[in-house]
Amino acid sequence: MKKIDKAKLFILDHLHLFRCPVCERSFEKMEGNQLVCTENHAFDLSKKGTLHFLLKPSKSEYSREMLLARQRIAQMGFWQPMLDILYPLIEAKDGVTLDVGCGEGAHSAYLKEKGLHGPVVAFDISKEGVNLGAATYEDIFFLVADLAQSPFQAEQFDALLNILSPSNYEEFYRLLKPGGQVIKVIPGKDYLKELRAYQPEEKRTYSNQDVKDKFTDHYSESEIHPVHYKVDLTDEEVSDFLKMTPLGWNINVSDTNTASLKQITVDMEILVGNKSK
Ligand SMILES: C[S@@+](CC[C@H](N)C(=O)[O-])C[C@H]1O[C@@H](n2cnc3c(N)ncnc32)[C@H](O)[C@@H]1O
Ligand SMILES: [Zn+2]
Repeated sequence: MKKIDKAKLFILDHLHLFRCPVCERSFEKMEGNQLVCTENHAFDLSKKGTLHFLLKPSKSEYSREMLLARQRIAQMGFWQPMLDILYPLIEAKDGVTLDVGCGEGAHSAYLKEKGLHGPVVAFDISKEGVNLGAATYEDIFFLVADLAQSPFQAEQFDALLNILSPSNYEEFYRLLKPGGQVIKVIPGKDYLKELRAYQPEEKRTYSNQDVKDKFTDHYSESEIHPVHYKVDLTDEEVSDFLKMTPLGWNINVSDTNTASLKQITVDMEILVGNKSK
């Protein structure tokens, strides 16, 4: 089946998940390849099977080249040990999962492959990221949207994945079903520390304390799961690695002793909070 037809079936089966970002009313039908709200605002379904909900264009700092590099790094397994810790923390494997700020979608794809069997919806403000995800992965519904004007109905999601991406706690509260989970992954102080050595003085150290405090303000009974491992990179992977994160963009490979970048530290924390029942 073509991607657009598969996506159309998904939308028709899951109309209740979405709401119009313009008037906040529900969607009741598709007209051809457009999703149309009860006030007649229409959103196009692309050939790749993605919906585009941004009301104004957004400029992302990630280009397609950088996203392709990030995808190759994800596919060589860079984040898999973290995702292997995260996967068992998802309580409702058959529930509805929303990946907030999914980038090029590799994390959701890996979790789906591991056994998430409920619907997985993934969105990002970056059209390039969403296009790459939709072109690469099956069985995830990708859309372009802004978390600040999210096109989703209230209380439809069992789990929100918020992996290295921005949060909006009021919106998370609205989106989650009672008892639903926010699973937020944040860098720890040693995350990619081999890259930090090349940064200007003020960027060499990092603390996630403010982010953690904000999370625990909203979820007082939250759990914190530390993640710490190292990944060995080949020369080719070092070059992708430098492209995939803003921390690598100021590093000139020819001037740099890349030996120090052949083993990279991944230091993260997974924060889990539940909305009260
Ligand atoms: C560091 S990337 C992480 C992407 C992916 N979760 C990963 O771990 O590879 C942060 C992502 O958040 C997205 N983002 C930033 N602001 C957003 C917003 N208001 N709504 C949706 N996505 C947003 C960016 O476009 C970017 O893809
Ligand atoms: Zn509308």
